[in-house]
Amino acid sequence: MFESLQAARADAILGLIAEHRNDSRPDKIDLGVGVYRTSEGVTPVLDVVKKAEQILIDTQVSKSYIGTAGAADFNAAMQALVFGDDAPDERLTTIQSPGGSGSLRVAASLILRAAPDVTVWASEPTWANHIPLLGGAGLKLKSYPYYDTDKHVIRIDEMLATLRSLPAGDVVLLHACCHNPSGLDPSIDEWAAITEVVVERGLVPFIDMAYQGFAKDLDADAHAVRYMAARVPEMIVSSSCSKNFGLYRDRVGTLTILSGDSEAREIVDSQVNNVVRTIYSVPPDHGAAVVSLIIRDSGLRGDWLIELATMRGRLQKMRGLLSDALEEQAPGHDFSHLRRAVGMFCFLGVSAEQVAKLKQDYGVYMTDSSRINVAGITRDNVSYLAEAIAATLPAA
Ligand SMILES: Cc1ncc(COP(=O)(O)O)c(C=O)c1O
Repeated sequence: MFESLQAARADAILGLIAEHRNDSRPDKIDLGVGVYRTSEGVTPVLDVVKKAEQILIDTQVSKSYIGTAGAADFNAAMQALVFGDDAPDERLTTIQSPGGSGSLRVAASLILRAAPDVTVWASEPTWANHIPLLGGAGLKLKSYPYYDTDKHVIRIDEMLATLRSLPAGDVVLLHACCHNPSGLDPSIDEWAAITEVVVERGLVPFIDMAYQGFAKDLDADAHAVRYMAARVPEMIVSSSCSKNFGLYRDRVGTLTILSGDSEAREIVDSQVNNVVRTIYSVPPDHGAAVVSLIIRDSGLRGDWLIELATMRGRLQKMRGLLSDALEEQAPGHDFSHLRRAVGMFCFLGVSAEQVAKLKQDYGVYMTDSSRINVAGITRDNVSYLAEAIAATLPAA
């Protein structure tokens, strides 16, 4: 049977990680990989996670299955974290999911059950796995303009014009904050304009929030979710705890569906749980139990907020340092867009040829699109990095 298979296309980022690992140059720099790292190059287990894990070890009495929806205390805590105090609870269903990816996958099946012919519109560009993941589940996908690669701004007018042309019921996939890969998020006014079109056209927002707390703070980063939840009849929100709790491999996230009313919510709730049963049956528990302890205990929550602010601050600082170093090393070239970005990613804004040269001549690794993860920058490597980038630029 398996003889009929062709090898799957290699994952570009995984290939880049392997190339970087095999590079023996001591000053090599990895700006490709999609995880947070400290100045020592480590993706740490947060101290608060260690504390919560110890509590779990001491108090957990069973490893029996949890239900398809996961743990009720975790779901309630996450719903409050994402939707805030004014959440329209009676219309919300939240389930625990295996990471943000698991949540997206369950959402895809739910959309297909509810409206098999709709198109899901994703930003151009978007997270590299959005299209394979949602398309692989069977959804039809198209894209709306988002990032202007020359001017390094959001193509808001073109985005709105595309949304205005969509048929009612189509789904619009949006990044709540820290847009991956561009690092550029709509302003408060732009979110209002997007919401207005969504309501006017009867579109369904599908918000992916993989970086809550990585741009400004937990509440500000949830603005789009909360603003839309107060104005649209239906919405899908996928949330990941991989980055903000550093729980990547433990697979923690939630899927929340906002239904038109409490009756519709009951039906959606039964369907979403049924979808889970047919895919992975029940979610993993450990990471979610850790997150639940942290969010619900004021002491642990305070500790978490400090560690979250440290991660966010480091990303901002490194982005600023690179921008300063480039101003010095590459006069006449404009890299001011780096400072406008938030979160882990942004585009450096160089060509694929320059990306190849950076890798070959300097051991600096990033994706062909020149998306960089600023967590790969340190005080020690930033001068070398700016020099390498400057050396690959055309004369100003
Ligand atoms: C925009 C976006 N959505 C979803 C995910 C998936 O996150 P998880 O690792 O929790 O599946 C990522 C991870 O990089 C992401 O960047």
